[in-house]
Amino acid sequence: MPLPKQVIEWYRAFGIEHIIPSAALLSDDHTKRRDAHQASASPEMGTTLEELQRSVTLIDCHLKKAAKNTVFSDGNPQSQIMFIGEAPGQEEDAQGKPFVGQSGKLLNEMLRSVGLHRGEVYITNVVFWRPPGNRNPSTEEIQICLPYVRQHISIVKPRIIVLLGGVAIKTLLETTEGVSRLRGSKYQLMGADVIATFHPSYLLRSPSQKSLAFQDMIMLKRIIRQ
Ligand code: URA
Repeated sequence: MPLPKQVIEWYRAFGIEHIIPSAALLSDDHTKRRDAHQASASPEMGTTLEELQRSVTLIDCHLKKAAKNTVFSDGNPQSQIMFIGEAPGQEEDAQGKPFVGQSGKLLNEMLRSVGLHRGEVYITNVVFWRPPGNRNPSTEEIQICLPYVRQHISIVKPRIIVLLGGVAIKTLLETTEGVSRLRGSKYQLMGADVIATFHPSYLLRSPSQKSLAFQDMIMLKRIIRQ
């Protein structure tokens, strides 16, 4: 049950926001406002994945100058499950595919831990080019790619979206809340159930959090079975 914004602010003022259930942080109103806003995706970008991919290669984004490849997607476009990460790293830039480096290996393991494999899911990022030196993508870079990411979701029409890490979560759920606050609950985005979990790169740096990511994968499996 979503809590009114003012109540959430009171919890924060008293320093007890940790007791707010995460599902209460994104209210039904928030979801409706966000989806209305996101409905602005344009068919001019393409209504098939091939057309959209072509449009993405034509985006005017300065990240393209240093990147070797546009990294669009990998996995099965017919899948009901869409994973969305942050931005390509060095290996992804070299191969032109998302999550094929060290963090991709861990993502594959996370999938395997609940009996899934890469070919059964669809994988993309919120930014299509590697930011130099693997820095975080800037707000401007994210905003340039975002309409295309929304169009990507509306073409694939996943039943379930898994957001990997803070950048994907904050961008697509339009929130300032981080992974730790939002994981463990189910949200709605453009007709899909959404869960949030840690980015594999973060898990490589903080392996003690892997057990929480495993719980998130179990939650994914439960939603798949529903
Ligand atoms: N990190 C991401 O967010 N995406 C990739 O494709 C690789 C690393």
